[in-house]
Amino acid sequence: MDSKSYQAIARELARDFAPRAAEWDQTRDYCWKNVGELADAGLMGMTIPTAYGGGGASFYDAVLVIEEIAKACTLSARIVVEANMGGISAIMAFGSEDQKAFCAPYVLAGDKPAICISEPEAGSAATEMTTTARKAGNKYIINGCKHWITGGGVSKLHLIFARVIDEDGKELGIGGFIALRDPDAGIELKGLRVVRRERTMGLCGMPETELAFEDLEIDEEFAVILPSGYRRGFADLMNAYNSQRVGAGTIAMGIAAGALEHAKRYMLEREQFHRPLAEFQGLQWMLADMDAGVHASRLMLHDAAKSRGPNNSPFPDIMYAARAKFYATETAIDVVNDALQIFGARGYADQEPLERMYRDVRMFTIGGGTAQILRTQVAGKLLGIKTPQTRDGYSRLANSH
Ligand code: FAD
Ligand code: COA
Repeated sequence: MDSKSYQAIARELARDFAPRAAEWDQTRDYCWKNVGELADAGLMGMTIPTAYGGGGASFYDAVLVIEEIAKACTLSARIVVEANMGGISAIMAFGSEDQKAFCAPYVLAGDKPAICISEPEAGSAATEMTTTARKAGNKYIINGCKHWITGGGVSKLHLIFARVIDEDGKELGIGGFIALRDPDAGIELKGLRVVRRERTMGLCGMPETELAFEDLEIDEEFAVILPSGYRRGFADLMNAYNSQRVGAGTIAMGIAAGALEHAKRYMLEREQFHRPLAEFQGLQWMLADMDAGVHASRLMLHDAAKSRGPNNSPFPDIMYAARAKFYATETAIDVVNDALQIFGARGYADQEPLERMYRDVRMFTIGGGTAQILRTQVAGKLLGIKTPQTRDGYSRLANSH
């Protein structure tokens, strides 16, 4: 399928999703109905290679789809991101044949894999994670705690980042482990516990959870063997994660593009002083700035989606992804804020989607790498220097290089 066809399918679906978005926001329920429709339309796993039943589409195609869906329903757009980027893209790039053949059908049928990186004491400082995967015979035993895991309790597949310890107790680096939890099929996964769900200001239908791993046993064939080995496993995994950063930036841009459409409509509809709002120059200039911000973000995100990191990486370049995400997410917050302002009091009430969009968009400068961390990564690349943030200059992982 070509890019335009994917985009057209997404536009069509978004028309149905728009009226339902407020419902998920209020009930905080997961949007299973939308998931079914996304899967039927071939958008879950659209980037999975055709050899494993996917659409074989590019990240650029996915970005076109994500923008259209995000204009209508942020929750569904997040699901599309995680069903095509991040965890599943890491597995498709680095996994064994068996792992790929095992995971793809879940995603194609509607599963949004959970990517488990952050911990209570290791957010931005992700390399400080303490979750361990200890080798014991033909298994790895995982212990630790992950926080802010999107989809905990609804996701079947999990990609868990953990410090790998060999049988002699020696630490090898950070690796990725695939865990499947599917209670409907009787796969409970003893050792993986959803501790609690956060109550968030926006993105309300998506569980954001704390997960505990208590002697979670993973067969060694579910350990992802990374191209550079465990020693530089974190870098490989984060390289794949650059795709999710582009996806997250696109959701924010899509929300902003949707808000811009609402603002245009309202400026033409609403009258004050016996004139439509559209005739007031103060608002016209606001609208022009909003449009410029959305367009610049879109160009940066497309550029990032098409970029490739060094050494024939199948993933977006770290600097292109970081630059596009911090720019698009910060711009989107401003654009949605201005759109809400154009609606006056009506924008502050739930009769319009602006207040929900405003709550939803706020997250995107935080999750998936904060705007500050991403700026540091861009600056490091611009200057051609390493930018260790720990007080002694180098993190534990960097020291082991
Ligand atoms: P902290 O790292 O504690 O940062 C606090 C503040 O300090 C921020 O403003 C930050 O920018 C700033 N800061 C920290 N270090 C520096 C520095 N060196 N220089 C300048 N400023 C700095 N994680 C997962 O693993 N999987 C998920 O599915 C997932 N989903 C998420 C969903 C949501 C809705 C949210 C909000 C988060 C999610 N996260 C997930 C976690 C997310 O990636 C972290 O929140 C993020 O990396 C920041 O970590 P933190 O919140 O602990 O903030
Ligand atoms: N893409 C490709 N490589 C990456 C990368 C990315 N996004 N992020 C880190 N790496 C590589 C680094 O280049 C480095 O390799 P090098 O030694 O060859 O330079 C290695 O991984 C370790 O990174 P470094 O920046 O030295 O680690 P640090 O201990 O200073 O930690 C990070 C900083 C990477 C953890 C921090 O910048 C970060 O990205 N935090 C956000 C975490 C996040 O996005 N979580 C999302 C959870 S959903």
